Amino acid sequence: MTFDADDWLILARCWHPVALVRDLGTQPMGVTLLDAPLVLYRAGDTIVVADDLCPHRGVPLSMGKGDGQSVACAYHGFRFGQQGRCVRVPAHPDSAIPGKLNLRTYPAVERYGLIWTCLRPDEAPPVIPPMPHWNDPAYQQINCPFIDIAGFAGRQVEGFIDVAHFAFVHTDTFADPENPVVPPYKTHITPDGFEAEYRSSVGNYPIGKTDRGCPGFEWLRHFRVHVPFTATLEIHFPDNGRLVIMNTASPVSARQTRMFAPMCRNFDKDLPLQDVYDFNLRVFEEDRALVEAQKPENLPLDPTLEAHVMADRSSIAYRRALRTMGLSQFFTA
Ligand code: FES
Ligand SMILES: [Fe+2]
Repeated sequence: MTFDADDWLILARCWHPVALVRDLGTQPMGVTLLDAPLVLYRAGDTIVVADDLCPHRGVPLSMGKGDGQSVACAYHGFRFGQQGRCVRVPAHPDSAIPGKLNLRTYPAVERYGLIWTCLRPDEAPPVIPPMPHWNDPAYQQINCPFIDIAGFAGRQVEGFIDVAHFAFVHTDTFADPENPVVPPYKTHITPDGFEAEYRSSVGNYPIGKTDRGCPGFEWLRHFRVHVPFTATLEIHFPDNGRLVIMNTASPVSARQTRMFAPMCRNFDKDLPLQDVYDFNLRVFEEDRALVEAQKPENLPLDPTLEAHVMADRSSIAYRRALRTMGLSQFFTA
């Protein structure tokens, strides 16, 4: 376990995305959430999320074979179906199956093209961060491939909401090195995080798309942060264009993050999706190098531990919101 035990218990109560729905075919898929190895598989029209461990002799079920209805363990072929129930023991096809052979499962919810789960669910309905316009028929829904980052989810999310780094990190994709000034902006607290509306002249068209410049346009970036690790950015383009990017960082482990990015937009809906994937990958790759290099690797929640400037209002609000959840250290060491 790489997380501080108290922090782990808090994070395990939250819902996190673990895979793109479209990536889960008939074969079982192994993923890791908060250091817990999980297997995902399809059982008819439901998705099962379970510990990636066969209750018979401890072989990972992600090594097994699926048929869309159930998954068969690679070692002795025990078969598991809906709700993780053991439905067949090939060595004794006619004997009753003890309940002890059922898998330990977790709830699965599909939203924004992602599979979300929770390791310590309670009776309450799932709490999954909202995404503006995802269900709006005027918008195109897009799911970028995930990106793996050898860094902490909190550092990655803080980078996503940081508006002062554009002119230094994103100059090959959308930003302008001559435009580093951060105009003042405010944050306001919400029940599960905060929002910030940031207005500046930093455009969001890909560099080199010269036909699309828009001199004098004031770009509005509306950030909505939902602790612990999800933020949405709604960018207001010229001509009432809107692009919403959800940055939802799945804490695989303390120093390992799987970043999912559902998006939706109400313009350019006829352009190839691959262009969106490629552009998104380039932007997030620019960030990745920095997030992986940051020290300390956790996110210091004590405000005295790092230096802050006016531009960091969002970072400060983010850290405060994480403290409000009761989080403290994140890492064991
Ligand atoms: S270890 Fe899985 S069936 Fe025996
Ligand atoms: Fe960035």
